[in-house]
Parts: sequence; C-alpha cells; structure tokens
Amino acid sequence: MSLSLISIPKTLKVGSQLLTNTLYRNFSKANKKQITLIFEDEKGNQSKAVGKVGSTVLDIARSNKIRLHGACEGSSKCGTCHVYIKDPKFFDLFEEPSNTEFDVLDEVFQPRINSRLSCNLVVNEKMDQMVVQLPKYTRNTAVDGYFEDH
Ligand code: FES
Repeated sequence: MSLSLISIPKTLKVGSQLLTNTLYRNFSKANKKQITLIFEDEKGNQSKAVGKVGSTVLDIARSNKIRLHGACEGSSKCGTCHVYIKDPKFFDLFEEPSNTEFDVLDEVFQPRINSRLSCNLVVNEKMDQMVVQLPKYTRNTAVDGYFEDH
C-alpha cells in the first residue's frame, strides 16, 4: 500500500515555491531596512540610534539605551515618552495625532507645537537622520531616579 495519498502537481510546487521566495525576499528586505535617529538631550548632546523601519521612536530609543521613559508601555496613557520633533520637514511625515494623543499631550511638561508621543511615531525610510529632542522633564509618577529597565 502506498503512503503517498496526496500528490502535488509540479506546476503548483513551482508556483508555491516562487510565491514563498518572493514573500521571504520582500519580508527580509523590509526587515533589514534600518534608519538612524539622532536623540538630543536638553543640553544639545546628541546620540545616534539605529532601528528598523516600522518600529516606533520609543522602541528605537529603548533598543539603543536612550533614556526615554515609556511608563505605560506604549498605550498612550502616560505621556512619559514625550519628545519634540525638531525639524518640521520630519514632523509633517507622521500621521496626525489621535484625539487620545492630543489629550495626553495636554498634560505633558512643557508641550510645544512639535510635541509628540514617541510610542505613537512609527518610522519609515524618509525619517533617516531625524533629530528627536528629549524634554528636560517628564511627569512620571514613579519615584525620582526611577527608570523603567528594558
Ligand atoms: S509610553 Fe505612555 S504614552 Fe507613550
């Protein structure tokens, strides 16, 4: 008795392999695209941070050990991930803030016209070399000196 009960036609095999290769190639290419962000503290000191396209500014900061809070883990509740996008050219590349983000931005320390929540900012290739300014203070209800460890 034969165990080969299902036979796949060669054309389907070839077609599905091509599809798999195309998906894999596109997926890998998308995942390999990286950009560099420049984080600037209140004294003007700059640190470069490399991250993947499709990540948030907060994710890139964290993966590069930039001291940016994110107390609510990106759920647009705390405002501790508040940043300023220095160049209007880059600021305009992002989606408009949601009403939820506007509500949180109303409560951050020293909001400005270029304020955003970094957890809501998904980066693309056009944002390479974007300068992200870190605010001097955040309103974090945790004890002074506390920092989320990631
Ligand atoms: S991490 Fe809390 S609002 Fe962005």
